[in-house]
Amino acid sequence: MTEEILKISGGRPLHGEISVQGAKNSALPLMAAALLCEGETVLTNVPQLSDVYAACRILNRLGCRSTAEGNTIRIVRESAELYEIPDEDMRAMRSSIMFLGPILGSMKRCTLTMPGGCELGPRPINLHLDAMRAMGVRIREGAGRIFCTAEKLTGAKIHLPIPSVGVTENVLMAGVYAEGETVLTNAACEPEITDLANFLNQCGAEIRGAGTHTVVIRGGRKLRGTEYRVMPDRIAAMSYLCAGAAAGGEICLKDTAPDDMKSCLDVLEQAGCRIGVCGDRIFLDRTGPLRSISYIRTMPYPGFPTDAQALISAVLCTASGTSMLEETIFENRFKHMGELARMGADIRVSGRTAVITGVSKLHGASVTAMDLRGGAALAAAAAGAEGITYLSGLHHLDRGYEHFAETFNSLGVLTERGTFSALEHTFSAANAKKC
Ligand code: EPU
Repeated sequence: MTEEILKISGGRPLHGEISVQGAKNSALPLMAAALLCEGETVLTNVPQLSDVYAACRILNRLGCRSTAEGNTIRIVRESAELYEIPDEDMRAMRSSIMFLGPILGSMKRCTLTMPGGCELGPRPINLHLDAMRAMGVRIREGAGRIFCTAEKLTGAKIHLPIPSVGVTENVLMAGVYAEGETVLTNAACEPEITDLANFLNQCGAEIRGAGTHTVVIRGGRKLRGTEYRVMPDRIAAMSYLCAGAAAGGEICLKDTAPDDMKSCLDVLEQAGCRIGVCGDRIFLDRTGPLRSISYIRTMPYPGFPTDAQALISAVLCTASGTSMLEETIFENRFKHMGELARMGADIRVSGRTAVITGVSKLHGASVTAMDLRGGAALAAAAAGAEGITYLSGLHHLDRGYEHFAETFNSLGVLTERGTFSALEHTFSAANAKKC
């Protein structure tokens, strides 16, 4: 077997301090927004992830020169003639849909196919297309492709039926080059949207209200590239906090934005963790027992994020009592629950609700990441479980976590990455030495 896996030796309290990566879900739209800018855009604190490299490939195919060096990405648009996102790129990354707004804004036409993958259930793009139609775009489908064209983009009043993060981002990016004003109501309020608006404003756009449900974009501005630091990743931070909560111990995360994480930190406190905040640092101390939480419901920001649902489920597996989780955003986000059950968790799933009855301990097992956050949840559970867990499906984890194994090791969780046979070889060699 040549696939790489993680071997996680759990069951010991965590300790240590780590720095949290920049936010994937901010870096990707910021990279797409660079298409709107003349001159060079320099993004710093960009996490080194497969999704980020996929976005670089899309930019390069669209006539940009994008280069990555460590956590810095430089993007210059050298040609403005290409407006088609090839099918293989659309399939490689669901977030490729966020190139729609900037391509249409700058070129007035865009050809694309349906974004790939549907790990979390159906992920339609109807609301993206409706919003673009409202701004004057004609949309035609044929031969598996979607052709979008406009003589000009015009500002519009757009009300979203649900506060979609991606649609809000696309409207912001298309709106800066539209004629007149765009008023978007029932907009998503996630901090990554505020980060995008701050970037666009720094480039010369005029966007007000980002981070609230009403965003106003004054169109017709020319944007110039700028240097911008990507905000901290609140979901990566929550992932490591949940590992600390599951295993117990005392950890410190720096380079975080605690104000963006209130609902997550509240839930960790309810589960029996002591949380301290000082500037950009979050301290977690979990020495006592974990407590169940009677009901958690995922909601758009500032509610409890869907991206943290899997993570907290890993914590609640060993909390005394029964917890109930309701997933309201995506249909199919409980795939990790079956894998947690392999580790000894007592979980019943019915539709969009999961009921977790705490057990005293989880044990190591061979488990597979079925999606990004589910994979991180299994790793968090493995940190707290007795014995060794072999986690496969790492391509999911690589989409969203920079240097995951190294970070886990810095928190005191013995974690190795390699093929199964190589890991077993080092394991047997170490045991032979002991004998
Ligand atoms: N939806 C539609 N039609 C559309 C667009 C969305 O019905 O045209 C539905 C979705 O199916 C979903 C709901 O609206 O049920 C909300 O989806 P949203 O558009 O807000 O999600 P997204 O923009 O596709 C981003 C994050 C996700 C995160 C969600 C919710 C990025 C790149 N992705 O997705 O992050 O879960 O917002 O907060 O920003 C992750 O990082 O693992 C991840 C999945």
